[in-house]
Amino acid sequence: MTVYYPKRIMLAHTPTPIMKLKKLSAELGAELYVKRDDITGLELSGNKVRKLEFLIAEAVDVGADTVVTCGGVQSNHCRATAAACARLGLKCHLILRTETPAPPYDGNLLMDYLFNADFTYMPRPEYKKNEEIGFESVLEGIRAKGGKPFYIPVGGSVAMGCWGYTRGLEEALMQLSERGIRRAHFVSALGSGGTHAGLVMGRYLLERPDVSITGFNVCDDPEYFYQKTDRLIEEFSEKFKVEIHASRDSHSIIDGYVGPGYALPYPELIETIKMAARVEALILDPVYTGKAFHGMITELQKGRFPKEDPIVFIHTGGAFGLFPQKAEFVF
Ligand SMILES: Cc1ncc(COP(=O)(O)O)c(C=O)c1O
Repeated sequence: MTVYYPKRIMLAHTPTPIMKLKKLSAELGAELYVKRDDITGLELSGNKVRKLEFLIAEAVDVGADTVVTCGGVQSNHCRATAAACARLGLKCHLILRTETPAPPYDGNLLMDYLFNADFTYMPRPEYKKNEEIGFESVLEGIRAKGGKPFYIPVGGSVAMGCWGYTRGLEEALMQLSERGIRRAHFVSALGSGGTHAGLVMGRYLLERPDVSITGFNVCDDPEYFYQKTDRLIEEFSEKFKVEIHASRDSHSIIDGYVGPGYALPYPELIETIKMAARVEALILDPVYTGKAFHGMITELQKGRFPKEDPIVFIHTGGAFGLFPQKAEFVF
């Protein structure tokens, strides 16, 4: 089926390459590939930029001059949004969840400052309460000063953002077919759900039931993400008037790799991150890609994926999140 995409502003360097992890494949007796969405750019690296291409096009279309978004202090999505705004001459206002009144400039936050974003810091309970009403008071403050805000919910995981990975899947399937590969398992990290939902929708819209979509949750639990995927599909179908039939058995969400909590590391995770760098020069982060990659190779060893089928790990970026956790690494 031909997919007709909404308007998009080109921000990412795409197509990103698909590389075979030759040594790790040989070691594990598997066919492991990585879709290098960590190199969609430097400042604009990672999965979020694919979503922002559509979301910021919408913001510009409705005449906004300020993009408002939210997340944790080390949010990759916030950093990518601040970078995109700086590039396009838009203002950016970040609402960051933190218990520390003046969090140290490190990793993504340092870059947010370099991109000249404005900030509202909120402790968790206040953040949660305000997020439920779309941070209306922050938007009102911007309007009161004559600004035209456009709000992007956490992680860009709304209907419009989901186009990013419908398009990402189409790109990857084309690259695989050039290699003579048809059937494949796509694996990625689940944080706010939009990447996974976009892939699930892409599988349906591109009529590719022969590919499987698996997400590893890095927070919450599978039930939360099954519900979020259903909700995003519903929102997407309504907004874009496309029918999508993607039941829960058309994708999988695997739990068990969150560890002590969101963004909190554990020893096996750190060992996997070190191994991926040592063996394949692959930089994973302890918040998202490290947990998903650790989950993928553990599940592969347990027999969850057939060893003869190609597995494509979507590397969703996040390298800047490594630096604030440098103390976890002992060499
Ligand atoms: C590096 C990285 N990988 C994966 C994810 C998860 O993507 P999503 O929020 O679309 O579930 C995020 C953000 O949450 C991220 O920053």
